Amino acid sequence: MFVLHIALQGCLRGSDVQYGINADTGGHIRYLLGMVEASERIAKAERIVIATRAFESNHGADYAVPRERVSSKTEIVRFATPNPDYLTKEELWSEVPAYAESLIDWIGAQPAPPDIIHAHYADAGVVAGIVRERLGIPYTFVAHSLGRVKMDAFRDNAGTENPDSMESLERRIEIEERAIRDASLIVASSRDEAEFQYSQYKNYDPGRIRIIPPGAELAAFRGAPPRLHVDRLINRFLTHPEKPALIAIARPVAKKNLAMLVKAYGESAQLQEMANLVLIAGNRSDISHLEPEISNSLNEILRLIDLYDLYGRIAYPKVHLPSDVPAIYGYAQYRRGIFINPALNEPFGLTLLEAAAVGIPIIATDSGGPNDIVEICRNGELVDPSSSDDIAQAAIRMLADPALWDSYASAGARAVKRFDWRSHAKRYLRLAEAVTGKEGIGIRQPRELLVSDIDNTLLGSRDALAEFSEWLAGEPEMAFAIASGRSFHSAMSVLEQEESPLPDIMITSVGSEIYYRAENGPEYRADPEWAEWIAEGWDRAGILAALQELPGIRPQSPLEQRRFKLSYLSPANPEAAAMIAERLIAVGLQATVMGSHARYIDILPPRASKGTAVEFVRKRLGLETRQVYVAGDSGNDVEMLRLLPNAIVVGNFCDQLRSRPELDHCHFAPRRYARGILDGVAYFRGAQDGQALSVA
Ligand code: GLC
Ligand code: MG
Repeated sequence: MFVLHIALQGCLRGSDVQYGINADTGGHIRYLLGMVEASERIAKAERIVIATRAFESNHGADYAVPRERVSSKTEIVRFATPNPDYLTKEELWSEVPAYAESLIDWIGAQPAPPDIIHAHYADAGVVAGIVRERLGIPYTFVAHSLGRVKMDAFRDNAGTENPDSMESLERRIEIEERAIRDASLIVASSRDEAEFQYSQYKNYDPGRIRIIPPGAELAAFRGAPPRLHVDRLINRFLTHPEKPALIAIARPVAKKNLAMLVKAYGESAQLQEMANLVLIAGNRSDISHLEPEISNSLNEILRLIDLYDLYGRIAYPKVHLPSDVPAIYGYAQYRRGIFINPALNEPFGLTLLEAAAVGIPIIATDSGGPNDIVEICRNGELVDPSSSDDIAQAAIRMLADPALWDSYASAGARAVKRFDWRSHAKRYLRLAEAVTGKEGIGIRQPRELLVSDIDNTLLGSRDALAEFSEWLAGEPEMAFAIASGRSFHSAMSVLEQEESPLPDIMITSVGSEIYYRAENGPEYRADPEWAEWIAEGWDRAGILAALQELPGIRPQSPLEQRRFKLSYLSPANPEAAAMIAERLIAVGLQATVMGSHARYIDILPPRASKGTAVEFVRKRLGLETRQVYVAGDSGNDVEMLRLLPNAIVVGNFCDQLRSRPELDHCHFAPRRYARGILDGVAYFRGAQDGQALSVA
């Protein structure tokens, strides 16, 4: 495959990149080169070209060189545009049309055109859009950062607003809209980006967005040891420096919510007894000279330290060097501490990966990127950042249970290796292949349909999944669907991570959303008619209000709340689902209420469930109920198991499915996880053959 990357910003060259030399020579170049370097080592990538812009500047002559060979597979090509000078990302847009023309000419002169273009940042997306229109080459898009998110941040900090930037942000958002609209596939780094940040765009289309975590440079952090000078920096604050340390490393801005952590610690005598608190909150000389936002939050922290009388238990060093950071984590690792990120929202969460690499468990905000990190690394727990009690309880739990601490610490150190460029490049190239149609796939007119739950049914045993995948590959007339409590992106990223076959149909968010895979590509399309049908009788706001004061339940993280799904946790209350259902009936609201794993509760429109969604899909495919198999393991599967005759419960089921009379017809498979699905299909096929015989 020939992959053409387009990246127009900053000072881009093949080696010794001058990071930080100006505002645009930063993260996106690191990302691009990390990805390209890893791709070179994958056979599928036969030729790699990075197209950037040529310019004259006092940063050196390299940036005007038309062709730079980087390796045997990779080269950088530079095209000049009417303006010969270096231009910032805000100024580049004016050069886009001319740039696209030069690129199109260059492509025409190549022995073969690129199979795919990967556009980095919105302006490159627009160039790729023009190339696609003219030459029909598909493109994928990675935004690196989104104008709308920046815009919100600007608005939150009203007062610092600057009309110039507002105008360029508006232009950028418009350019992003075009790049999003025409891309075959968009690569996002986290669920927060895929499900929340992009959803603010007009051209948002979730089925064309895939999460592929970026690589992270963690070499300096892997197993980082403590260092004496760093120990001293911290210990001079502490009466019992030998205690475990709860550490937070963040700039003290309001969004990072460090005061809530001090409050959590200050309110809990038990936590103070168990651990010290260490805040690495930037560097300062005189607090009163800092930006107002920063000095306000530092003053608040100092006030709380005094209020709760935390002297001798909390360290907040005045200065530290960037090179000290690994040893700061090392300090906490040595004392069996915990890394805490209580931010109100954390778009990605690099510090959580650093902590994982060092080998410390984490407690992190349930809002934003940490969701993905905890999902992949299983290295800690998510908490509601507005609840000091939630934060304190999670810390107490981990400190009190050495086995739990060990399992989080070692799982994190192991799994963090998945955030590397090699797996990123592998996943990207697999998708690119599907986009270019080189990997012939897609849904045919099926004769049968298999719908499986994901967690603890399809997934749970890697060996069982491998056996299942091999079996499915030999069933060309079987459409494969999943039905999961997860959102589309959460489901897709766990399936890709576990190398499951790609489903033809995705029923997600407990049946409240349905997506179909495109006929010859990896894109999915949401079913608008399903959304329309289940909207009937759904009063989301009314339900939220009715449940506001209900004791014993709390909302799941913001990403789990969808247009047609409200989800809660009820850790200590097996009757919670019944209680919610009663409450809703009492106030005259209709909904489907469902509990699973004795801790999750989902509330959906009255017409939505995995069961009604499977029925909807079955009819769309023109199949009879006997041509459909469904498989599940827990409470949120009951509706689909109940409604379909060929219903399979895998051996490792929970939520007392066996004692439910409405599931009497199910086949309770002898084997666990995906092997249980195979048992069930074989069982029902055998039963049908038997029937056919006895009729004959
Ligand atoms: C998944 C979802 C969660 C839901 C649960 C049970 O874990 O992420 O929101 O409550 O499934 O359906
Ligand atoms: Mg399950």
